[in-house]
Amino acid sequence: MRFLCALLLAGSVFAFRPRDYETYDYYVLHLDQTVTPEKVANHFGFALDGQLGELQDHYLFRAPKNQHIDLVNDAIRELRERRRRKRSARWEPHIVDGVLLNQKQELRQRLYKRESLPVYFSSLQGSTEKLHKDEQPPPVDSAVQKGIDIAKSLGIADPIFQDQWHLYNHIQINNDINVTGVWQQGITGKNSTVCIIDDGLDLDSNDLKANYFAEGSYDFNDQVDDPKPRLSDDRHGTRCAGEVSAVKNDVCGVGVAYDSKIAGIRILSQPISDADEAIAMNYAYNKTQIYSCSWGPMDDGIAMEEPGILIRRAMVNAVQNGRQGLGSIYVFAAGNGAAKDDNCNFDGYTNSIYRYRLFRIDDVRLYNCLLTMYRSVSVGGIGRDNKHPYYSEKCSAQLVVTYSSGAGDAIHTTDVGENKCYDHHGGTSAAGPLVAGAYALVLDVRPDLTWRDIQWLTVMTALPLDQPSDWQDTSIGKRFSHQFGYGKLDTWALVEAAKDWTKVKPQAWYFSPWLHVKHTIPQGDQGLASNFEVTGPMLEKANLEKIEHVTVTMNVEHTRRGDLSVELHSPSGIVSHLATTRRNDDTVAGYVDWTFMSVAHWGEAGIGTWTVIVKDTNVNENNGSWTDWHLKLFGECIRPTDQPLLPLPTEHDDDDHNAETTSAAVSTTTVAVPTETGEVPGNPTDHIDRPVNNKVSSSTPAPTSTPTPTPTSSLAMSTAVPAPSSTPTDLPETFLPSPFPTFGVSKRTQIWIYGSIALIGIFVTSLAAYFFIARRRRLRNARDDYEFEMLNEDDADDNRPKNGRGVGRKKRAGELYDAFSEGSDEELFSDGDDGSAYRDHDLGEDGSHERGVQR
Ligand SMILES: *[C@@H]1O[C@H](CO)[C@@H](O)[C@H](O)[C@H]1NC(C)=O
Ligand SMILES: *[C@@H]1O[C@H](CO)[C@@H](O)[C@H](O)[C@H]1NC(C)=O
Ligand SMILES: *[C@@H]1O[C@H](CO)[C@@H](O)[C@H](O)[C@H]1NC(C)=O
Ligand SMILES: *[C@@H]1O[C@H](CO)[C@@H](O)[C@H](O)[C@H]1NC(C)=O
Repeated sequence: MRFLCALLLAGSVFAFRPRDYETYDYYVLHLDQTVTPEKVANHFGFALDGQLGELQDHYLFRAPKNQHIDLVNDAIRELRERRRRKRSARWEPHIVDGVLLNQKQELRQRLYKRESLPVYFSSLQGSTEKLHKDEQPPPVDSAVQKGIDIAKSLGIADPIFQDQWHLYNHIQINNDINVTGVWQQGITGKNSTVCIIDDGLDLDSNDLKANYFAEGSYDFNDQVDDPKPRLSDDRHGTRCAGEVSAVKNDVCGVGVAYDSKIAGIRILSQPISDADEAIAMNYAYNKTQIYSCSWGPMDDGIAMEEPGILIRRAMVNAVQNGRQGLGSIYVFAAGNGAAKDDNCNFDGYTNSIYRYRLFRIDDVRLYNCLLTMYRSVSVGGIGRDNKHPYYSEKCSAQLVVTYSSGAGDAIHTTDVGENKCYDHHGGTSAAGPLVAGAYALVLDVRPDLTWRDIQWLTVMTALPLDQPSDWQDTSIGKRFSHQFGYGKLDTWALVEAAKDWTKVKPQAWYFSPWLHVKHTIPQGDQGLASNFEVTGPMLEKANLEKIEHVTVTMNVEHTRRGDLSVELHSPSGIVSHLATTRRNDDTVAGYVDWTFMSVAHWGEAGIGTWTVIVKDTNVNENNGSWTDWHLKLFGECIRPTDQPLLPLPTEHDDDDHNAETTSAAVSTTTVAVPTETGEVPGNPTDHIDRPVNNKVSSSTPAPTSTPTPTPTSSLAMSTAVPAPSSTPTDLPETFLPSPFPTFGVSKRTQIWIYGSIALIGIFVTSLAAYFFIARRRRLRNARDDYEFEMLNEDDADDNRPKNGRGVGRKKRAGELYDAFSEGSDEELFSDGDDGSAYRDHDLGEDGSHERGVQR
């Protein structure tokens, strides 16, 4: 009831009716102005359940269950067929013409806890104390005293405050988020509201109770008001909440913004539909300012997943209309898959503008690596040399990093239970909420800042780390690395900069035409380059002054996706590694309309030549060709008054390869490029572990006007090719499977990776908005097949393995980002068998799903 009241108060128009997926089918339809939802309901014999959350013109309908039939798609197909038969006749308008998008809902399992991690933790069981005492360097006495003084001055009597080294570190001085000086100014998040979208929030915890914000909370899994943890492993959300907003009292520690309000949305504990997830992402969005999301698709180094269209729309809606139009702020954990060559750009949530990643520990080798890492870290002692080690995924979409588990310690926070604390919270899961808490402090002094201001402030105030990495000096005088983003969060600097920050002008964008390459990708150190010239008048016309986010959407055919890597070179010479090779990714496919994102070009003017280079550094029988690409620049506008809002994403954003092929020329060039730029010494790079020869590809080019590369020259050709208007359906229907050689990273490399992780740095990408990251049609991987069709698509057919696009157009699974923090007691000993069964059992008991969980 409180929920309904809250909605009424909030002026929301949709009626939230509990879902019953066993009895009903649910459809979400996006309707145009020619039809009313009532008419549509009537036509199909559906019940109308109301608007879909905050998404205008999107409605939820209910019909008696008939799992195998999509009534709306059938009607559309039938109508299309009828019209085709009498093609000369004038089309009678039909009610179905008013349906712009149809998505029949399915429950999908979004949560795969890291069952294998408990093994890792169990070996550490009981040793926590020892690790702390014996393997940390001794505290610095003066710093200890300073910590006590700070606590006293702020009236902090929380018993574990001195253990919360991420807030104030008296061992590794300055290795913390530098927040105490902010609190001393009275800035503690008083008027800010953060929502933890996760597996629940223990509102009865004495450490959270006083800050709990019921109005912004809901349990989408059990469909009740309070997002209480109900399963034994529903602990993650509560721990994240404690990091943000644990109350200053006599229980456990404090949150970064300990006077902020904290809400919880529970979505990860059971299968959930895209419709409900879309509602969740916009939940109470005028009152909640920041959404903290420490979960995402699998970090297995294989998956390429993106959120469904409704969720993408919900996020764009939130950055445009949430917070009374200032834009909701989403903080996503970047993911923990670095050990598997994963890269946040293969993750549709984070790489759009929000990012997360997961950790799938599915082989013994990896366990061992984790253990090695842990030992080497605790033995090596990152504290002693005051270095920030890393293991997190590299990615051009990474904005900032902050502290998490490692070096014999983890994040100390609140746990489920009245007065329970937890000292093993970690992974990028733990880093995200710290950033969310810092933003809550920013909004305390500047509630008027937009979501883009927050990102600007993050870029401008992050501290580059004194760590070897691929640091580049950007055109606005910042340093960017694919491992650390712009550096580590400095809360004090962030809040100080916010105080007199001049707000950025509205967002503008420039989209290039589709640029057709159609050329074989040479193997080895050579890359295939394609240029696009952005001129001043183009940006002037687009009203775009200064770049923030850049995306590149591309189609590449290949017989082994993991062999591919992609670089983007900007006119000012900044290089983004959009994609990197992934040794485990044997997928027989390339990229299909996949969108990569980069924040490395933040602040550039963008005028000049942008170059994308696709490489296949593994010389083997797996090869491919690059079809086309599409550059999108987003940033600050020139004239605010002329600037409309970005339209909501559609399934067709990047679909129309015939659209607007201006006279822009693509020059296709085979160039020698370094495999990696600025690698950390000793970092495993392609050329260390992978067989490479210097042979330039001499294969015949694809049958286009593109000239043949001259095998001997490193600058074989640079002939301008007018973009032909071929369509993506030219893609071959199948690829010949070849034997897949495995270029697993060597032991040495693994040890390098783990040995160097001194582990405090965990990357967080705080990506707020979500441009159109249209990775729709993503390549499939084994789970969660989900499909919907666009109405305008010709002959959309349920079985469409043809044209290389695959059936599994929408699939995704949510995961907690808990590389190191899954160590609740229950879990520690529960994983005798295949861990994946663990969650499934829970779900099986309530019988609420069958199809949702697929392994
Ligand atoms: C942290 O905050 C203080 C103010 O409390 C500031 O003087 C200092 O420069 C900040 N940065 C570091 C690394 O301590
Ligand atoms: C918090 O918000 C309320 C209502 O919007 C306002 O009256 C109050 O002054 C704000 N407090 C602070 C500390 O900004
Ligand atoms: C959110 O705030 C805007 C601007 O004040 C208002 O137009 C809109 O109706 C509100 N939406 C909700 C759901 O409260
Ligand atoms: C890939 O290699 C095979 C032979 O190894 C060749 O027949 C095929 O044309 C190549 N494909 C591309 C796209 O280069």
